[in-house]
Amino acid sequence: RLEESKKVILEEPSSSAKKIKINQGSNFRDQRVKISGWVHRLRSQKDLTFIVLRDGTGYLQVVLSGKLTTTYDALTLTTESTVEIQGQLKAVPEGKTAPGGHELVADYWKCLGKAPGGDEAYTNVVAETADPNSLADRRHLVIRGETASAVLKVRAEVLKAFRAEFDSIGVTEVTPPCMVQTQVEGGSTLFSFDYYGQPAYLTQSSQLYLETCLPSLGDVFCVQESFRAEKSHTRRHLSEYTHLEAELAFISFDDLLAHLEQLICGTLSRVLEDPRAKALLDQLNPNFQMPSRPFRRMDYKEAIQWLNDHDIPNEDGQPHKIGDDIAEAAERKMTDDLNVPIFLCGFPREIKSFYMKRTEGDEGFTDSVDVLMPGVGEIVGGSMRMADQHELLEAYKAEGIDAAPYFWYTDQRKYGTCEHGGYGLGVERFLAWLTNRWTVREASLYPRWTGRCTP
Ligand code: 4AD
Repeated sequence: RLEESKKVILEEPSSSAKKIKINQGSNFRDQRVKISGWVHRLRSQKDLTFIVLRDGTGYLQVVLSGKLTTTYDALTLTTESTVEIQGQLKAVPEGKTAPGGHELVADYWKCLGKAPGGDEAYTNVVAETADPNSLADRRHLVIRGETASAVLKVRAEVLKAFRAEFDSIGVTEVTPPCMVQTQVEGGSTLFSFDYYGQPAYLTQSSQLYLETCLPSLGDVFCVQESFRAEKSHTRRHLSEYTHLEAELAFISFDDLLAHLEQLICGTLSRVLEDPRAKALLDQLNPNFQMPSRPFRRMDYKEAIQWLNDHDIPNEDGQPHKIGDDIAEAAERKMTDDLNVPIFLCGFPREIKSFYMKRTEGDEGFTDSVDVLMPGVGEIVGGSMRMADQHELLEAYKAEGIDAAPYFWYTDQRKYGTCEHGGYGLGVERFLAWLTNRWTVREASLYPRWTGRCTP
């Protein structure tokens, strides 16, 4: 049969076919179209071949019949091969379902690139692989899968929605540099490199640059990669992550919290209002519920008390005491138990960064906030910033930071200071929460973590 099939040649019909993408299908019912894509699924019975075609915009059922199923390519077709199909888009008969409610009844097709079968077949190298390390090596193939690609699509929708939300409240996007010579979040997680003979780092946060934009652009945000040489090997730490940061001028701490609540809920509403994004979310996290407002506000000291009341020890196995950092495990337990978004406020200055504004009347603490979400824990870190120049100079000293390379940051307090604050939101953490993923690695296109910088 294979030998014979080599003699079967298909003639391309002369009637014209409109070249479209799968997601445009509903506008082309009962018309001749030409669609190219990858063979996502494949099933043959007698003289019918059913293909689920994938082109990145969606999935489409294709039916090959008669002579179309007798060519050499038809008999040797494999999943992940690329094909071009021409034919009529027909609504599926009542009682049957197919993506988009229609199928492409082919009158001509050709194979553009055959994928391997046998040991190297997609299903063997990806779908039936359980080892996380092998899957990480094959991330470039894994992202073709229905779940992995859905997460990446939600990611795109979420970034679009964040940008729309910022636009609607008058916050301007800027693009700060990735190569820097100053630290923001402590020296221990800096990636350093040689910059024309000078020491330089990959940015940990664009915050300081955003602060310099306030006098020229007003409130600003950025979506920029941040880099952390993390000592924490957890399911929520990456070495490179997408950092959504914003900085707002002439605000109070309460304004900052109100803004954060609006940004998160406004963005989520936009995602849920988009039918395609909503369908993806229903696929990934059918139990997702819009958080109710106002978010629960909890003081750091109250959290320490809560942890002790619930016998959750600190990292040394001891009861928590004021001044302790709240470790990931404890934070997760508390957030999962309370099961609502939390504004955790007022951290002690010793465990927070040098730039944070001290709480008036309680100088050992800061006007700072972490937003905690069930299932993930911290997704946002933010604070009010020190507005006073001398206080900032003292803070550099206390932290052992040389003030000289920060001259441009200090200048913000010299040339017209203002009360201001901002935050950074980890996009992969936000997505892990929204799409109910076990790890932030699933929310990154090509995740980097300790020891992994490929593919
Ligand atoms: O709390 P962080 O370190 O705060 C800052 O960098 C501030 N300078 C931001 C600002 O105020 N503009 O990081 C902010 C957020 C965290 O809440 C977390 O969501 C995310 O960035 N994040 C990470 N995400 C993935 N992997 C890591 N290693 C992360 N480190 C921080």
